[in-house]
Amino acid sequence: MFLGIDVGSESLKVVALGETGHDVAAEQEPYTFDTPQPGWTECHPDVWWSACLEALTRLGRRIDLWQVNSIGVTGQMHSAVLLDKSNAPLAKALLWNDQRSADAVLELETRVSRADIQRVTGNRLAAGFTAAKLGWWRKHYPELLAQVAKVVMPKDYVVFRLTGQLGTDVSDASGTGVFDVASRSFARDLIRELGFFPDWFPHARESIEVVGGVLHSAASQTGLRQGTPVLAGAADNAASAVGVGASLPSTAMVSIGTSGVVLVPTRDVRVPTDEELRSREPLHLFCHALPNTWYRMGVTLSAGYSLQWFRRMLSSAVQTGTNKGIEKGTETNPEISFEAVNAWAQHVESAAEGLYFLPYLTGERTPLMNANARGVFFGLAANHDARHMVRAVMEGVGFSLKDSLALIEKTGAMPGTVQLTGGVVNSLVWSQLICDILGLPIGMQSRAGAAYGAAQLCRVAAGLHPTAQTGSDKEGIQRALQSQGASGSHLSAGDGMGTVLQPRMPATDNFQLYYQRYQAIVRTLQGLW
Ligand code: XUL
Repeated sequence: MFLGIDVGSESLKVVALGETGHDVAAEQEPYTFDTPQPGWTECHPDVWWSACLEALTRLGRRIDLWQVNSIGVTGQMHSAVLLDKSNAPLAKALLWNDQRSADAVLELETRVSRADIQRVTGNRLAAGFTAAKLGWWRKHYPELLAQVAKVVMPKDYVVFRLTGQLGTDVSDASGTGVFDVASRSFARDLIRELGFFPDWFPHARESIEVVGGVLHSAASQTGLRQGTPVLAGAADNAASAVGVGASLPSTAMVSIGTSGVVLVPTRDVRVPTDEELRSREPLHLFCHALPNTWYRMGVTLSAGYSLQWFRRMLSSAVQTGTNKGIEKGTETNPEISFEAVNAWAQHVESAAEGLYFLPYLTGERTPLMNANARGVFFGLAANHDARHMVRAVMEGVGFSLKDSLALIEKTGAMPGTVQLTGGVVNSLVWSQLICDILGLPIGMQSRAGAAYGAAQLCRVAAGLHPTAQTGSDKEGIQRALQSQGASGSHLSAGDGMGTVLQPRMPATDNFQLYYQRYQAIVRTLQGLW
């Protein structure tokens, strides 16, 4: 049995898979992140560890965790978990969608130019990236930064609490903004030039390498067997991609959770020309969880979050009749359900009868790379009601994902199929809209998700996954990948592969036009942020 753990933005999920990849059991423990100011998001690392203990305890009541062969941990990317000399957290972690570090990016770019950072790391530094957060701490709390001994990501902290070993993996390290993705190692010179310390960052292993075994203390708290191997693990998007079988450039993964992601694997990490550099600024180039593989990714920060915001906002207004409590949502009142808003969206025409939504509630990465961008409803008319607004939110997220896909296609990628994962697959209407907007066939991966992908990663490492037929260690998998070439390294699609959606006509054609209008609105407003 293999265990996947996902340290998500709003919950921790655990999934146990059998040797053949079949589901055994899953549990989820919700939590919230704090938003002390608009655009700020933070969470204490111990919230994740407590949730992990809780979820494992509940899972342990259903299955025998002693039987777990290995554990893969995945999680939200980019947070800086600041640890002191005794490996205790020094502060709450600023999250991937926290935009307070926009000025810090500008300051870091005065030390090393934007183009040089991108040349070394493969990426433009986004406000959400780890290095930008370190810049923010340096400006506002230098005395706290002076106590930092190590910087890791959320899943690495959970791995540390499980094993007592501090490490990270190449896919999560890619999101720090100081990692040379081509050589799959930290860019020590760049770290120094930015005024930070290379030793803050632990060694980045390949995702399928083992970091350590479960500690006695963690074993006795959870029911896991002491010494159970824990892998270096992967960033949530990389793990999800493993789960849906996106390991080749021919298969894109689209994921809509809190954020929305378009991810296309690649083997092309050559240094781009200056012109390519500029056109690729809003895209990320990160190491995949599989050796010798990378991916390009566009990220829309508020995807599922936009629909959730809309439901909460409407629920609060309806329930209280005033604006009291709107910010906090409706902890005490039932929310307007996901099913209800889906039914509303179904009964409205495409482009919501002239209404468009720009999903930039928490700033935007792709395509704008602008922390100050904000959400917009455009084209409101007297005949519109909440149903039109829901439909516009769903379509706006779809258009934003199309922006990412279009930019990735400009790099030469031509994915023929899309595997869709995340909460969106619970909505046929939203999934079909995404399919029509992207104009590509979509496999709905109902079982997949980052925790599932992390458990599949354990199967890869154990040589039980099709990718790893020739060996159970990193070298074996690498040999398999290299010797078999592109087709041999292909991961089979997740077993959760269910319905395949086809782009519908004339909806797909119509959406081309609506997308052009959406882009025109974005272009027009862009200068205002
Ligand atoms: C990716 C990103 C998000 C988080 C969410 O760059 O910021 O997808 O990983 O979990």
